Amino acid sequence: MRRKLLFGNWKMNKTIAETKVFGKESVELEKFAKSKNVDIGIAPVYLSLAALKEANPSLIVASQNLHYEDHGAFTGEISIPMLKELGVDWAIIGHSERRSYYNETNESCNKKLLAMEANKMTPIYCVGETLEQFEKGVTKKVIEEQVLEGIKGLSKAYVEDMVIAYEPVWSIGTGKNASKEIAQDICSYIRELIKKEYGDASSKIRILYGGSVKPENVHDYLAQKDVDGALVGGASLKVDSFRQLIENI
Ligand code: 13P
Repeated sequence: MRRKLLFGNWKMNKTIAETKVFGKESVELEKFAKSKNVDIGIAPVYLSLAALKEANPSLIVASQNLHYEDHGAFTGEISIPMLKELGVDWAIIGHSERRSYYNETNESCNKKLLAMEANKMTPIYCVGETLEQFEKGVTKKVIEEQVLEGIKGLSKAYVEDMVIAYEPVWSIGTGKNASKEIAQDICSYIRELIKKEYGDASSKIRILYGGSVKPENVHDYLAQKDVDGALVGGASLKVDSFRQLIENI
């Protein structure tokens, strides 16, 4: 039985002080989620990772990105040992905003995922098609490339415990969420791809939907057979809204 996972991606929002306030309130939020058998986690900006961990040490805290090298001349980047020093062992990899604004590719995502496996970190690997690709009807082809190139060389045991998030680019921050049928169709397609490569790891891996998820629509998505949770931007920023997401699951 796969446990449901609600993950907040805060993107470039909240100062350290604001994060501390949320972090303290997240202790109750986490208890509430546990009572509903739901896992929750948050990916704040790098600067706030330590503050969030300190405010709620048991919360799953993820970095929004990382570099695959341990150290070196990579201005503006952060590495796995730096995250582990803070007790952060999750990271979002390949978010569409990083793919489109910072030239993230399936190949660079693959290097990051391999480095994460070597360091026993858990990834949320993001895939999703653009509006143009959706309209051309090539969604599954794009998803197949992103999934298979991204996870190339990972072990079966690792894939079982990783998380993949399907986030159609056209639904992110636009209020134009994909229908629950589309979410189910693509999440089930991702599970099939995993099955072909890794056999029964496909029944354990958690696959999330992301894109304009709100308290009003979270139930529709999570009621789908292959949707194990949600990666949430805007609606994860306020404690009340996060609580409502958990409540409405
Ligand atoms: P929104 O929930 O704000 O649409 O963002 C989705 C997202 O990109 C989460 O990673």
